[in-house]
Amino acid sequence: MKTILKSTIFAICATVCLTGTAVADGHLEKAASARKAVMQLYSFNLGQLGAMAKGAVEYNSETASAAANNLLALVSMNQGPLWPQGSDYVSLGHEAGAMPEIWSTYPAITEKSKALMVGATNMAKVAGMDLASLQGAMGGVGGACGGCHKVFRKKK
Ligand code: HEC
Repeated sequence: MKTILKSTIFAICATVCLTGTAVADGHLEKAASARKAVMQLYSFNLGQLGAMAKGAVEYNSETASAAANNLLALVSMNQGPLWPQGSDYVSLGHEAGAMPEIWSTYPAITEKSKALMVGATNMAKVAGMDLASLQGAMGGVGGACGGCHKVFRKKK
């Protein structure tokens, strides 16, 4: 009985303890969730600007400035800690998410972040001026989002 119990405990430990890093290491999941939350905030603010740009919502200088400044603030955050190695969708066993290539080709992704910084900075400068200026800045931001997603994001 003692032996059986011991070997059971060993068997449980062998499973849990060996896979422990992946399973118990909640910080990788947390980082991926936090990243998605940031992306949702990008999307919300860009959505407000996009709605005005295509005329679905009437242009309003203050609303446009606020959304553009929010986007720039988000893009300006130090996001390094949100991208730990091992938080790609394959390692986490998710259906979708960050491509492993982000880490294997690093620092290639930083070019994509820089493109978004340029687009968001320009948008923050001009969004409050008038509708035509906002419309003119949309491509720079939207293109930067898509430019990174195309290479580094796995969709469902
Ligand atoms: C530097 C690369 C990069 C840039 C730039 C970028 N994204 Fe993403 N985005 C990702 C990755 C990678 C994912 C997959 C989720 C993850 O991080 O694991 C993602 C996921 C998303 C998601 C899905 C989030 C979820 O809940 O699953 C949305 C929405 C999104 N991005 C919006 C945007 C918008 C809008 C912009 C531009 C303002 C943008 N992204 C710019 C890399 C980027």
